[in-house]
Amino acid sequence: MKNITLMLNGKKETIYFEEGDTLLYVLRDRIGLMGTKFGCGYGACGACTVVINGEAVRSCKVLFKTLEGADILTIEGLTEGKKLHPIQQAFVDANAVQCGFCTPGIVMELYALFSKEPDASDDRIKEVLSKHLCRCTGYESIFTAAKLVQKTESYSKQDKKDFERAAKLAREYIKE
Ligand code: FES
Ligand code: FES
Repeated sequence: MKNITLMLNGKKETIYFEEGDTLLYVLRDRIGLMGTKFGCGYGACGACTVVINGEAVRSCKVLFKTLEGADILTIEGLTEGKKLHPIQQAFVDANAVQCGFCTPGIVMELYALFSKEPDASDDRIKEVLSKHLCRCTGYESIFTAAKLVQKTESYSKQDKKDFERAAKLAREYIKE
């Protein structure tokens, strides 16, 4: 086995792997981070999306051996204890989770989008969401959740962790 060192969810980690391992395989089967989902396995569904160096990436398409020194964020890295990230909270508040299988990938996709484009247009949000398959077809509520994230002012570069305020603003937005 070989190993590489990288940043995973904010911590420096040295992780062992075999030559042909994908990032998805290492996350789920070698280190037990099961939040990233295995859907199609060939880049079509988006269920395995994580954030690598700030970009949303399909982890089933990335060979782990290419990631020396990378900064990787998975759905597990968004929560702070039991507190949900504002994007996750928006999904709850907008009832945008049915079976939940597509949810982690979409949340990570939106995290990458809003980190760079907090004021992304509706068309831009739809373009990004169109890369993900939701078998439960909850696209309208998923779009509502994305808009809700934009309404929660706490989702800014300075203040990404203001969970309570984000949740309060989200609830107010839902009632409007
Ligand atoms: S499992 Fe990676 S895109 Fe479907
Ligand atoms: S909520 Fe079931 S696949 Fe999207």
